Amino acid sequence: MPKEFFIATAIDYTNSPPHIGHAYEKVLADVIARYHRLKGDKVFFLTGVDQHGQKVQQSAAKEGLPPAEFVKGITQKFVDLWEKLDVKYDGWAETTSDRHKKVVQGILQRLWHEKQIYKDKQAGYYSIRQEQFLTDKERGPGGEFGPEWGQVEFREEENYYFKLEQHKKWLLSYIDPAGAGRDAVIPDFRQTELRNAVEKLSGDLCISRPKSRLDWGIELPFDKDFVTYVWFDALTNYISFAGYNPEIKTFKEQPEDFRDRWDLVIQIIGKDILIPAHGIYWLIMLHVIGFPDEEMPTLFVHGWWNISGAKMSKSSGNIVDPGALADKYGTEAVRYYVMRDIATGKDADFSEERLVARYNTDLANSLGNLLNRALNMVARFADRTVSSFYIRSEVEKKMADENLLEQIAQDPLATDGFYSGLEALPVAATIPIRVAAYSGELWNYQHSMSRGTPDLAIQAIMNFINDCNRFVEESSPWKLAKDGDHTHALASVLYHLAESLRIIAILISPVLPRAAHGIFDQLNWKMELIGKEERFRLDDAKWGGLPDGHVVGKPVPLFPRIEK
Ligand code: MSP
Repeated sequence: MPKEFFIATAIDYTNSPPHIGHAYEKVLADVIARYHRLKGDKVFFLTGVDQHGQKVQQSAAKEGLPPAEFVKGITQKFVDLWEKLDVKYDGWAETTSDRHKKVVQGILQRLWHEKQIYKDKQAGYYSIRQEQFLTDKERGPGGEFGPEWGQVEFREEENYYFKLEQHKKWLLSYIDPAGAGRDAVIPDFRQTELRNAVEKLSGDLCISRPKSRLDWGIELPFDKDFVTYVWFDALTNYISFAGYNPEIKTFKEQPEDFRDRWDLVIQIIGKDILIPAHGIYWLIMLHVIGFPDEEMPTLFVHGWWNISGAKMSKSSGNIVDPGALADKYGTEAVRYYVMRDIATGKDADFSEERLVARYNTDLANSLGNLLNRALNMVARFADRTVSSFYIRSEVEKKMADENLLEQIAQDPLATDGFYSGLEALPVAATIPIRVAAYSGELWNYQHSMSRGTPDLAIQAIMNFINDCNRFVEESSPWKLAKDGDHTHALASVLYHLAESLRIIAILISPVLPRAAHGIFDQLNWKMELIGKEERFRLDDAKWGGLPDGHVVGKPVPLFPRIEK
């Protein structure tokens, strides 16, 4: 068991306000962090903002503001959005902070001293958007630089370079399928892309910008006429906000707090910043400052949200504002949509109609209705009280006696004849089978969450919810209630529904924390009842937690339908 799960995201540029792509990444990280907390793991979730660089300086100039002031305003927009979207982080990275500056300068000083950095003169074409010199490799078939580089101009200047190429051999062996970092990048196909890119790697990395053209950055500790290249600065955030001490050369002599934190590190980033930033610069930086192979982070690469297949951009005027969406449809609707409607790792198309459709189908109809119907029926037919005697005493005992679950595993028809000898209606006797199916979904849920694919985990919860709704139809409790002979069957159906909802609330809590609290409140499931500090714990998602005689609360619509 790792000492701590360190989950970090990319830090967002503060040149413009947050959009739905930023929100997706942070909600994804938040869901994974919440899942680990649900399991009882110690979690450190770090996110933040990337405040330096030319883009930011240019945007500030356009607004007629000093960069520091401009950055403050945009940073606040990110902070407010994470609060609105319930993104609950433990550490907040701001690259203009003193703590970060010290670590960046400390590392640079060391690398300069160790001759991993040298000064050189370069003349060539420079992309302002990507903030880098371009080589002939970046030219298109007609010799031109593609639109992805934005404005390109000829430049000649002296700069400082970080030796990358001499570590190419190490990186190739590290990310080799037989190497220590064979799972360094998730999903696999991204690691293959990285290997192909590293094979072509040539030249070193320019890590400075002359102050004469850019002064919005961290000054080089050994030459005050230069500031640090924004990527070298930004990548360092993953260690500067985790307690790294740049004066100490070896990993094993780093402060204990840092080493504990750096036990299992998952860095969640978009597909555009794997190559070269994280996959090449960052891994080589860590290697050179003394991180052994077994301490390299896992790079978890997600896809992009597009608009009708095209990139969101200011110039196309199609930027989606997640804050406005949350104001219109609610925080949970936005969280649910961005987790549910994209296969993690792949791209998806954003559409407001789909957000509404997903919400109405899954949350208002399936989950909301189940909660409402179940609690209404417990109120009408059982005086708000659930009793668990039936399922426990009769059906479960018979299942255990006959080793039914093992039998089903070997032969799905093993249930034939199982119901004979039970005095209840067959529909109530399907409960054990449903509970067994739930165990399968629980396994799928855990497997999917631990692999960072909440879309599949949600699918497992939806399968469970849909089965409960089917069960309401099949068992028709309102018919059972009419007939005095079916009190046991009725009680066991009602118990099954209320108990399922208790479990569903636990499982959905990483994605929809507010709804999970809402379900618990309506079930009248209080902290005192479980006697534990955390209201939601995966351990409590075991069948049979609601005690006999538990009194549920009043139903209140949890997900009112969105009418268009
Ligand atoms: N500042 C750098 C990252 C430095 S990390 C040490 C940066 N910032 S960014 O604001 O451009 O992007 C931040 C994150 O948002 C990246 O992981 C990026 O892939 C992600 N996304 C930006 N647009 C996106 C979509 N349209 N969809 C999904 N994620 C997107 O890069």
